[in-house]
Amino acid sequence: MPEVAVHRADDADRFVMERLWLMFRHDLSEFDGGLPDSDGTFRSERLRASFEDIDWAPYLLTSGEHAVGLALVRGLVGPTRVLNSFFVVRGARGSGIGMRAVREVVARHSGPWEVAFQDANMAAVRFWRRVAAGIAGDAWTEDRRPVPGRPDLPPDVWVSFDVCA
Ligand SMILES: CC(C)(COP(=O)(O)OP(=O)(O)OC[C@H]1O[C@@H](n2cnc3c(N)ncnc32)[C@H](O)[C@@H]1OP(=O)(O)O)[C@@H](O)C(=O)NCCC(=O)NCCS
Repeated sequence: MPEVAVHRADDADRFVMERLWLMFRHDLSEFDGGLPDSDGTFRSERLRASFEDIDWAPYLLTSGEHAVGLALVRGLVGPTRVLNSFFVVRGARGSGIGMRAVREVVARHSGPWEVAFQDANMAAVRFWRRVAAGIAGDAWTEDRRPVPGRPDLPPDVWVSFDVCA
């Protein structure tokens, strides 16, 4: 099973996080129809917020010398933490890296957690149900909520669970 290390990203990691962000947004554009801007990048307000806003935290996932993914967390100063973005590069998928990394991320911020994803994203549907059950047993819930400002999209699926200190 390949190793994975989870490290809170700092300014030295910004460049690699920006590249991982492009890969992540391109992957999800299959489901949300997002297009790159004229410079070939995707909107990155959330990535920027994760470095600059105390409510957010960026995490870099590495496996040995390789950058293998990212996680952006928000809600650190509110009542509920939200796993806003989570990504494992294609070449590292299917080996348990995502499951182990997400456990490490949520363990750093105890309390109620939520994560949203799209029904059409079959890998995410299976993945987040598996993560929630692994962390919370039967004590997790799932509901559907409209995407703010995007009435054209189907509602997001939200999974909620608690992480004990
Ligand atoms: C979803 C994602 C994070 C999974 O990462 P991963 O490292 O491949 O996941 P793991 O290997 O830890 O898989 C854990 C479990 O998730 C489920 N799963 C993961 N990928 C799956 C897939 N393609 N199809 C079906 N189930 C899948 C399985 O139940 C798996 O357990 P199993 O292998 O014992 O059956 C990865 O596919 C990804 O980054 N996708 C693009 C971005 C995205 O959709 N992010 C989530 C929404 S924000």
